[in-house]
Amino acid sequence: MASAPNSAPAYKIIDHTYDVVVVGAGGSGLRATMGAAESGLRTANISKVFPTRSHTVAAQGGIAASLGNNTPDHWSWHMYDTVKGADWLGDQDAIEYLVREAPQAVYELEHAGVPFSRNEDGTIYQRPFGGHMQNMGEGPPVQRTCAAADRTGHAMLHALYQQSLKYAADFFIEYFAIDLIMKDGKCVGVIALCMDDGSIHRFRSQSVVLATGGYGRCYYTATSAHTCTGDGGGMVLRAGLPLQDMEFVQFHPTGIYGAGVLITEGARGEGGYLTNSEGERFMERYAPSAKDLASRDVVSRSMALEMREGRGVGPEGDHIFLHLDHIDPAVLAERLPGITESGKIFAGVDLTRQPLPVTPTVHYNMGGIPCNYHGEVVTIGADGNPETVVPGLFAVGEAACVSVHGANRLGSNSLIDLVVFGRATGHRLTELIKPGSSQEELPKNSTEMALGRLDHFRNAKGGSPTSEIRAEMQKTMQKHCAVFRDTALLEEGVEMMQKTNKRMEDVHVTDRSLIWNSDLVETLELDNLMAQASVTIASAANRKESRGAHAHEDFPDRDDANWMKHTAVWFEGWGGKGGEVKIDYRPVHEYTLTDDVEYIKPKKRVY
Ligand code: FUM
Repeated sequence: MASAPNSAPAYKIIDHTYDVVVVGAGGSGLRATMGAAESGLRTANISKVFPTRSHTVAAQGGIAASLGNNTPDHWSWHMYDTVKGADWLGDQDAIEYLVREAPQAVYELEHAGVPFSRNEDGTIYQRPFGGHMQNMGEGPPVQRTCAAADRTGHAMLHALYQQSLKYAADFFIEYFAIDLIMKDGKCVGVIALCMDDGSIHRFRSQSVVLATGGYGRCYYTATSAHTCTGDGGGMVLRAGLPLQDMEFVQFHPTGIYGAGVLITEGARGEGGYLTNSEGERFMERYAPSAKDLASRDVVSRSMALEMREGRGVGPEGDHIFLHLDHIDPAVLAERLPGITESGKIFAGVDLTRQPLPVTPTVHYNMGGIPCNYHGEVVTIGADGNPETVVPGLFAVGEAACVSVHGANRLGSNSLIDLVVFGRATGHRLTELIKPGSSQEELPKNSTEMALGRLDHFRNAKGGSPTSEIRAEMQKTMQKHCAVFRDTALLEEGVEMMQKTNKRMEDVHVTDRSLIWNSDLVETLELDNLMAQASVTIASAANRKESRGAHAHEDFPDRDDANWMKHTAVWFEGWGGKGGEVKIDYRPVHEYTLTDDVEYIKPKKRVY
């Protein structure tokens, strides 16, 4: 465990006791909150933003489930595509659980009030998305992605928040969770700062669910919101637990050039296509069958290669064109209104007449807090058991690594992950916890780590402003841990990141107050990001193969014999102290959940 300060500084503490505390109010956090509260567990939700501002609101294109409304489909086809998309690093028991539960989870959302787009016959409209095919990968593309125009996440988040209010969950809104309370290897609560009035809150609970989202903001340009700072992952590392598969960072092919704003893959699902400076539809060369609807890692790499070989668009050849100008404007208005607006605002482009400049942009973290398909956090135990459950601790959503996405996530498999595993976590909590049962005493040092860090950063008087250190970290990640990586670039990046991490000892926070101190909260967030940037680049330098989103130019092939295993990575210290990275491995689950489907054996991944 990262060393805590010697004693907790004196801050007045407000105590709370709950059966379950969920940190984060995006899709997965709300679904877990609903599930726990519905079954009578005293449930609190702590969120640093108002729930409907959580990053799920930005999800556009849709949610995958084999409903078969627009084309034939079957859950086993969805399973095949997910295993292949993950480049055989996903756990197949968890993937089977995901795809089999997906249709029911979507119908639940429908009944909860999500205003899905409709087919003529009233069924939910489903669009094609990258890497989703019919007939166990044989094709043609399947229409599996259930859509509410191109504002699916927005629609889901509002429905889930409204549903959560129906149950007796208590929401602590604009509270920043600082650190977990651990006792003898068990999670027994969490400490949070109320950003509005500066009060400190200690939550004692039988279980804590981390639903804190990804850490995309350790890169300079990302589709992720500025709030995506991996706060749960930071807390887990400081609790002495590992993160998993952090080297796998997804670049979405179509971020708006310069702005990084997401343009949904649904745009290509509805018939959009990419061209290079010669006007060529180059994806036909790289993925002759799926073309522009190959999986994201494949499309992003193809775009990067086009630019590298001098066929990028613009004076600096540093972007690609996305065409939607051939699509009926009425279809754009009905199915893609959000991105039509984004194109106008962020690129000054009228999508009905002009191509949009786009470039691969950091979008999603496949890695995260290792857990099983019940949402229980797992680690490698002292006896070497790689499936050792950490009592009292759960993780869901992008913060978690179940692992269903393995080395590369398919588009629209994220929203379904949120609700399927949010719901599964609710079920597990209900099985494990008796509502209102008495709880053990908190350890004497329960606030030491959280308040020690808070006080340290609040009084930090060094020479480096938080924004300067953050920009240095982001630029290193952007250059040294991008779509393509090689040994020299990664090793140099690891060294640079160590130096940037050290600079945290010299951080300067200007505002000493506790009321809406965004300078302080951004520094706590940077501390979380820095730990995760460090383990991401170290894990990438360590993995000597290419798989999914990890394209290592010195090791261009997938190497199942040596590398079909999950990376488990630990980070020592915080605030620039320590910084040592330790790596071990967990086995990939090469088995399914039931006998209804056979283990899908690895083969070459072509689209
Ligand atoms: O392209 C998109 O609409 C993003 C979806 C996703 O990441 O699942």
